[in-house]
Amino acid sequence: MPPEMRTDALLSRYGYCSRRETAAWLAAGRVTCKGIAVRNGKEKVEPADVLVDGAPVEFADGLYVALNKPLGCTCSHREDGELVYDLLPERWLRRNPGVNTVGRLDKETSGLLLLTDDGTFEHRLTSPKKHVPKVYRFVTSAPVPESAPALFAEGTLMLESEKTPCLPPELALPAPCAGEPTLHEGRYHQVRRMLAAVGAPVIELERLAIGPLRLADLNLAPGEWCAIDPHLFDN
Ligand code: URA
Repeated sequence: MPPEMRTDALLSRYGYCSRRETAAWLAAGRVTCKGIAVRNGKEKVEPADVLVDGAPVEFADGLYVALNKPLGCTCSHREDGELVYDLLPERWLRRNPGVNTVGRLDKETSGLLLLTDDGTFEHRLTSPKKHVPKVYRFVTSAPVPESAPALFAEGTLMLESEKTPCLPPELALPAPCAGEPTLHEGRYHQVRRMLAAVGAPVIELERLAIGPLRLADLNLAPGEWCAIDPHLFDN
């Protein structure tokens, strides 16, 4: 748990209200520490001892969430149209540090997407040096050449405007127009670009797993989220 902090700082850190609004929250008795109402925003409290509206501080140790990203929404805070952040409770978006996606999925890609307010966690999962494997499922509009898995495994495939070849992904091909690649890096539109490079445009793409976390084990309908244990990704 984080160390003690001022009550007004706690309420704004975890997105409950602004520092200016703290006085009204405290006057209404909405915040208690060890069962006693806190009346002054300057009072220092341990987050573990605090209840807000009768509930423990939400994600006091950091927010780590898996979302089943639906098609059609964008992993951005600022673009027009539907955003993944529109699917989350508004309070999360007022947290400071803020909540961000761990890497991105394209607007027309669905599936497992992680969100966090922990920059170190985000870096650990997205850093090219860490090679956290990510598994996808795709459907193409033309058959994937049978030679594609071996070609990808060579580690020589250069995508346009890239300076280094793609790290070799494993590619399972359960059907001529369907596959499950496991990638060890996360370049821009990587799955679509790799399949386009072998003449098989992707028309459907879903992320099934990140490291040990599998979407199928989470029972999330598109647009639903759940908390996850960040230690799953230790090592
Ligand atoms: N590769 C893609 O082409 N798109 C994604 O969203 C993720 C990986």
